[in-house]
Amino acid sequence: MVREIVVYPDKRLKLISKEIKSFNGALHDLLDDMYDTMCACNGVGLAAIQIGVDLRALVINVPLEAEEGEQDQPKENTLEMINPVIVEQDGSEKFQEGCLSVPGIYEDIERAKHVKVEYFDREGNKQIIEDDNFLAVAIQHEIDHLDGKVFIEKLSYVKRKRFEKEWKRRLKEE
Ligand code: CO
Repeated sequence: MVREIVVYPDKRLKLISKEIKSFNGALHDLLDDMYDTMCACNGVGLAAIQIGVDLRALVINVPLEAEEGEQDQPKENTLEMINPVIVEQDGSEKFQEGCLSVPGIYEDIERAKHVKVEYFDREGNKQIIEDDNFLAVAIQHEIDHLDGKVFIEKLSYVKRKRFEKEWKRRLKEE
């Protein structure tokens, strides 16, 4: 089921999400709704708080190069991470990021180039993943949401001011 996206500057985006303790049907429903919502909004990643649920869960689905009319984000390609923790990170790289909670804004953000992350899958099995590409960026972006942080907070003072002005103008226009 597609749920409503929480949009910046909604205060819920500042919440520190809580650890998940039961890997039950309710969690599976939440993850399914997160996938549906992410796809409906053409996103590549979504944290639970972005649909108003302050639990440490995120989904990422990097689109495939698909033919027109083909599904480029098949459900089985979805990376579901519960209680993720970055256990190693190094290097740095800038990458242009966007966020479903700040629609239409794209900014270059610097993050670690390589991360190693421990997490649980939907069945409660411990997993580990390592990446030094787009997935590493997406994971760091989504984990930030679990800690109440949105990517535009990483902008320089000047760029942040410019963003806030632009954002106010857009919200007024709606
Ligand atoms: Co985001």
